Amino acid sequence: AITQIRARRIWDSRGRPTVEVDVTLADGSTGRGVAPAGASRGSREALDLRDGGERLGGFGVVKALRAIETEIAPVLIGRDGTDQAGIDAAMIALDGTTLKSRLGGNALVAVSLAVLHAAAASAGKPLWQYLAGDGPVSLPMPEIQIFGGGAHAGRRIDIQDLMVMPIGAKSVAEALEMTAEIYLSAGRIMQSRGLIAGVADEGGYWPAFSTNEEALDTLVAAIEGAGFDPATEAAISLDIAASEFGSNGHYRLGLEKRELDSDAMCDLLLDWCARYPIASIEDPLAEDDRAGLIRFTAAAGGKVQVIGDDYLVTSAEKVERAAADNAVNAVLLKVNQAGTITETRAALQAAQRHGFGTVVSARSGETEDVAIAHLAVGWNAQQFKVGSFARSERTAKWNELLRIEEALGANAHFAGTAGIRGIGK
Ligand code: PGA
Ligand code: ZN
Repeated sequence: AITQIRARRIWDSRGRPTVEVDVTLADGSTGRGVAPAGASRGSREALDLRDGGERLGGFGVVKALRAIETEIAPVLIGRDGTDQAGIDAAMIALDGTTLKSRLGGNALVAVSLAVLHAAAASAGKPLWQYLAGDGPVSLPMPEIQIFGGGAHAGRRIDIQDLMVMPIGAKSVAEALEMTAEIYLSAGRIMQSRGLIAGVADEGGYWPAFSTNEEALDTLVAAIEGAGFDPATEAAISLDIAASEFGSNGHYRLGLEKRELDSDAMCDLLLDWCARYPIASIEDPLAEDDRAGLIRFTAAAGGKVQVIGDDYLVTSAEKVERAAADNAVNAVLLKVNQAGTITETRAALQAAQRHGFGTVVSARSGETEDVAIAHLAVGWNAQQFKVGSFARSERTAKWNELLRIEEALGANAHFAGTAGIRGIGK
């Protein structure tokens, strides 16, 4: 049974406060959970409880900590710490709102993760193994950001994430070594062209490009400069995060000072997919543009993975609807979008039932916490997206994946391209 729940304020990778929770069970096992934080959030994701006001830019978490101490802890103490579904359901009922705004998604997700870790500790297993049970596990294909943009780089370019997927790799270790070469190669090109303006929120270069296509061309040059073939060894993956610059069927490309309607936006992306080695594209249209997404996926979904992030907000119900609609063919899974482990897993299982690609993802605001590496492996999600190849809150997750791959030894199975719609299936 749960005997103690402690909540504290710690600091995330943007220097903002966030919630950390320690849970103790009667057998002495402990678990720790940390809430991450997004910057380009879907409008239907769980809402963090923030203090508001002047102090800490309004990002304070005193109210969220108080919600844990005075409301959540009294309800959970004494309950079975291995009953994740029961604990998450109790928190959801206690909160009572659709977007978890009363107690805060940040409070709920930190407690939910802490309980999960405590249960794994009590079973004497690493988290990935505890989650997998007798089910299959695989090491996920990484998607690694090289250039940051959108809300993570002062909207310097419209595309939020320009990433690579090392599709030719045979293991995580090889995938990450290829990434290291590409990240270095991109840095050399950017340096020589005077295009580096620092690093963005997730560690990718903060670029001084004049067009979105210059970003795509430079990424291809970086891949080739590292000695890889973009068609067969290291392909491009994009997160357009279109909800950040599009709504009501209007898309405003700030960099190129162009306004497009939904059809024109769709055509622009289809043109990029035809001209560049793009394997995957996330949130190509805005979260309110269901018709645009359906049109894009009908045209591109046979060759390209189309991921719903803001569009699906890690909701099993939305995954079901998207499957019925053929609006996307893959889902991004972020624990704090759903707000609890149980709901995140339900979204993953719905996606697996429908043959969707599954991508466990970090947020742009992160900490040294590595739980999501274990979720990706233990849940047999076949792709993993945690930002770039710099900044320790990012590399902590890649490095944990390497440790898990080593621990699996001869049993390590790398998903490779198998889980990528359009390439693998
Ligand atoms: P966020 O964005 O964590 O800033 O919301 C990440 C993403 O869009 O995938
Ligand atoms: Zn996204």
